Amino acid sequence: MIARRILLTGASGGLGRVLYHSLEHAGHQVLGTGLRQAISPLECLDLRDRAALDRVVQTFEPEVIIHTVALTDVDRCEREPALAEALNVQTTQHVCAVAAQQGAKVIHVSTCDVFSGLEGMYREADIPDPVNVYARTKYQAEQIVAQMPSALIVRLTFVAWFVAGKPAFPAWLARQLQARQRVGLFVDQFNAPLSVFTAADWIARLLDAQGLYHLASERISRWQVGCDIAKGLGLPLDLLDSVRLVDAGLFAQRPADVSLCGDKLAQDWQLHTTWAQELAILLAHRPELTNS
Ligand SMILES: NC(=O)c1ccc[n+]([C@@H]2O[C@H](COP(=O)([O-])OP(=O)(O)OC[C@H]3O[C@@H](n4cnc5c(N)ncnc54)[C@H](OP(=O)(O)O)[C@@H]3O)[C@@H](O)[C@H]2O)c1
Repeated sequence: MIARRILLTGASGGLGRVLYHSLEHAGHQVLGTGLRQAISPLECLDLRDRAALDRVVQTFEPEVIIHTVALTDVDRCEREPALAEALNVQTTQHVCAVAAQQGAKVIHVSTCDVFSGLEGMYREADIPDPVNVYARTKYQAEQIVAQMPSALIVRLTFVAWFVAGKPAFPAWLARQLQARQRVGLFVDQFNAPLSVFTAADWIARLLDAQGLYHLASERISRWQVGCDIAKGLGLPLDLLDSVRLVDAGLFAQRPADVSLCGDKLAQDWQLHTTWAQELAILLAHRPELTNS
């Protein structure tokens, strides 16, 4: 393994925090940036400020820039499209511009949500057809990165206990069930989730990859993911209700089946997993889950 100088944007985020440690563990020299969190060794940097990014890049001279920054709140993107454009598209333009100047490789983290969700089991050759502002701006960002020589774009979805310091789906689910609250889970929403630990590990192994890859486990419904996590934590299943995405009245439209096919990654890089393996990894990393 060749040790590299890596600038990681969004290092304070749900994926970024874990990826930061995976990269360091692999022996790379990593500079992580966040927007508000300047915990050493993270650099506090607003990526909308191109000049500030220029200064960081000129000082650190990264060989690789891994870009994870995004506005990931799907409803907020729909309500504030200008902010979504700034955080999802403009920050990517800035990253690509400084990478071009520096001669650095760009690795861009994208999402399965770029697809309409009408088909499922999407391959890299399938054409995205975004249904909401979040997905549209993420796809725009992909198209910018795709112009960069030797760039890598990975599409994925992941399950983490916490995202941006707040309980993410499994932690929220656990707290609801511990408090004997009923929880509705979508039976008609599907993806192919990785644990955040596998997502980070795989990205750290793909520094020499180029082009577009789908990082995926297996097609599974949100309902099944919730049931499996609850069961794995020894929590009551009788409090889970099956609900339909189409009845939920969410502000932004959600694609129904954005499961990804990971065959290309398995073939080219021998990286593959199952949902059962991902669940086991997630449960092995379970934090102390209290109701406070
Ligand atoms: N979450 C998922 O399930 C999921 C699924 C599919 C794809 N993805 C993709 O995976 C990537 C990471 O997602 P995530 O859930 O880890 O994101 P996240 O937890 O929401 O983290 C976002 C990161 O971006 C930083 N940030 C926000 N605005 C910024 C700005 N103007 N300048 C610099 N940094 C800024 C945040 O910094 P502060 O913490 O300091 O505010 C934070 O580090 C995203 O590209 C997302 O589209 C996520």
